[in-house]
Amino acid sequence: MKDMEARLAALFGTEARVAGPLATSGAVLRFTGIDLCAPLSAEQAGLLLEALAHYRIVCIAGQDLSRFSLAHFERFANHWGAPVPHPNNFMRGGKPAQQNGASDGAIEWIPYEKRSVAAVDKTFPGQLQCLPHESPTVLVAANFRGELGTGEPRVGGGGSWHTDIEYERLPIYVSMFLAHHAPLPRDTPAGTWVENPGGGGGYFDGSDEELTRLRRILPLNGETAYADTAAAFAALPKREQEELEKVQLRRRLNEGDEGWLAPLVRTNACSGLKSLHSPIWASRPRVRPAVEVDGMTMEASRVFLDRLEAHVLQPKFRYDHLHVAGDVTIWDNYMTLHNSPPCKSNIQSIDDARLLYRLSCKGAPALTLPRNDSPEWLQAHVTGGYETPREIIEV
Ligand SMILES: [Fe+2]
Repeated sequence: MKDMEARLAALFGTEARVAGPLATSGAVLRFTGIDLCAPLSAEQAGLLLEALAHYRIVCIAGQDLSRFSLAHFERFANHWGAPVPHPNNFMRGGKPAQQNGASDGAIEWIPYEKRSVAAVDKTFPGQLQCLPHESPTVLVAANFRGELGTGEPRVGGGGSWHTDIEYERLPIYVSMFLAHHAPLPRDTPAGTWVENPGGGGGYFDGSDEELTRLRRILPLNGETAYADTAAAFAALPKREQEELEKVQLRRRLNEGDEGWLAPLVRTNACSGLKSLHSPIWASRPRVRPAVEVDGMTMEASRVFLDRLEAHVLQPKFRYDHLHVAGDVTIWDNYMTLHNSPPCKSNIQSIDDARLLYRLSCKGAPALTLPRNDSPEWLQAHVTGGYETPREIIEV
């Protein structure tokens, strides 16, 4: 860390600071005093890439949202990989892309005003509007949409533990959030934003009690919940690590596909850290097929992966990331799991608003921009062969 501090000051100036690791597992660095409106030099990008490779989750706090745009955010994302269009933002073969992952019809980008998410601008007019953007890569995550709620706010149970898009041949490597507005009230009896309603996730029946209990321990202030699969792997006995490194998982995009084999254990090319990539039997219950361990029956695969998931979800590998407006938070999907927290919906007060923007990237990091992904590679791995336009790279 001493070395990191010295390099940080040399590259970003003496205002720049780093704190961490913030998680008990040894993950998470938090940088302050870095202005991402300015393009990054190769050395600056290199330092941040290295920070992520070693610490799995990196927060670059305090972007000035009166200047920092989603174009700046997308340019920044290009250093981590090729930004990938989100299925909410395009039609495929004339149908919403989210509905049918198998369809290979023509891609049609949906302009911002025709996206269902444009309704978030109607909830708090003149007070809270989405940052302007047209890019198909931006996913807007909000707990409000359309007219203000009436009656009591409701609290949803949170999502299921997962990594982003592990179900494609080339999985998402890095994802990132920009926080625009985070919930402020802490007025439950326990001093939190919401009380845990239990449940959530839509998990299949039949998981054991302990795994179910661990899955349901979720943060209550709108934080994103993470689990550190590099620390969890490092904590296993050597013999077991060696066995796990031989394991291949059969992943499928759709039920009935033959699918392909993908390694359970990945090694980070920069830090050499080994980690479990998405060690979950059914991370998207009823949306994507469950995973089979090569050479095992489906039942045995479930037992094997449920045990690993319970290992990874232990409190000592967990970290809840509190979102603060202006913070950019980046995570490595090969070295972490994450989950969305219980959130209020049907809200009446802007204080309860949770508004985040997500970008996700595939492929290799790039110290300098523009990236030079070949059109063939983009066609094979990125929807519609999307490439961040020049005016965004040069913003
Ligand atoms: Fe996610």
